[in-house]
Amino acid sequence: MIPERLQPLLAETSELADRFQAAGFRLYLVGGVVRDALLGRLDMGKAPGPEPGRDYDLDFTTDARPDAIEAVVADWADAVWLQGKRFGTIGLAKGGRRMEITTHRAEAYHADSRKPEVEFADAIEADLSRRDFTINAMALALPDLRLIDPFNGIDDLHMHRLRTPLSPEVSFSDDPLRMLRAGRFIAGYQLLPDKELVDAVVHLRHRLEIVSDERIRDELDKLVVTEDPSDGLWFLVNTGLAEEFLPELPALALEQDPIHRHKDVLAHTLAVVAKCRPERILRLSA
Ligand code: CTP
Repeated sequence: MIPERLQPLLAETSELADRFQAAGFRLYLVGGVVRDALLGRLDMGKAPGPEPGRDYDLDFTTDARPDAIEAVVADWADAVWLQGKRFGTIGLAKGGRRMEITTHRAEAYHADSRKPEVEFADAIEADLSRRDFTINAMALALPDLRLIDPFNGIDDLHMHRLRTPLSPEVSFSDDPLRMLRAGRFIAGYQLLPDKELVDAVVHLRHRLEIVSDERIRDELDKLVVTEDPSDGLWFLVNTGLAEEFLPELPALALEQDPIHRHKDVLAHTLAVVAKCRPERILRLSA
């Protein structure tokens, strides 16, 4: 039985799923949309559009290789983007909705990764195992929206646990930006990170240096507009990760406010940030 709240997702993906099935391939929905749909956080009744905060993109993964994906979507999509094809991703737009379809990957690679080549996989489980966190390592098989959750992400989501599918060292070595993403998920989903995950960030935090400034900025932006970013920001400070890209933040812990004599300007600052409206510029100013 497909829960009522997932029906719009089914309606929106069925044409594409039929095309992949007819061509002999499997297609799965993955990523944030799966996580948020399971939590009932998506406004799926809404048509795609520019209104911020309510819209969503669709991420898919498939056993089809990039050339085959391109052939399947060529005469269906309104527009197709190929700049990610080298990494297995075909981007497209359909009816105002942005979509990305990526061949299963045996390892995680990003455009600014130092790893030169992509290794594709045939099994969805291999792909999911190389994703950042268990709550993001779930897939919905199309066309029937069957949940594939080899690392119990759904339990972690409901038990408020942040864990990695394989060891945190593997996940963070695949992509050090994930250490920063941890802060966003801790804050945005009220998750408690596993001790091994925290230890791995403390150990690997210097690896953030290989990540581009743009990707770091984008993740920080997403963290600061969560309803209450405090726990995420404390995580970045307490693990030492903030020291790697925003040393002004941990430095506040040493400051004394000469007028109000707050003991800890950092605690005060984070409380002020959380009290501001969740707008990017306002929160960053605070
Ligand atoms: N992912 C990953 N490692 C990253 C970035 C992304 O493993 N550094 C995987 C995760 O499975 C993630 C998915 O790719 O859920 C999509 O990533 P993204 O587009 O950044 O979406 P989310 O961050 O998960 O969610 P949102 O759509 O809310 O931004």
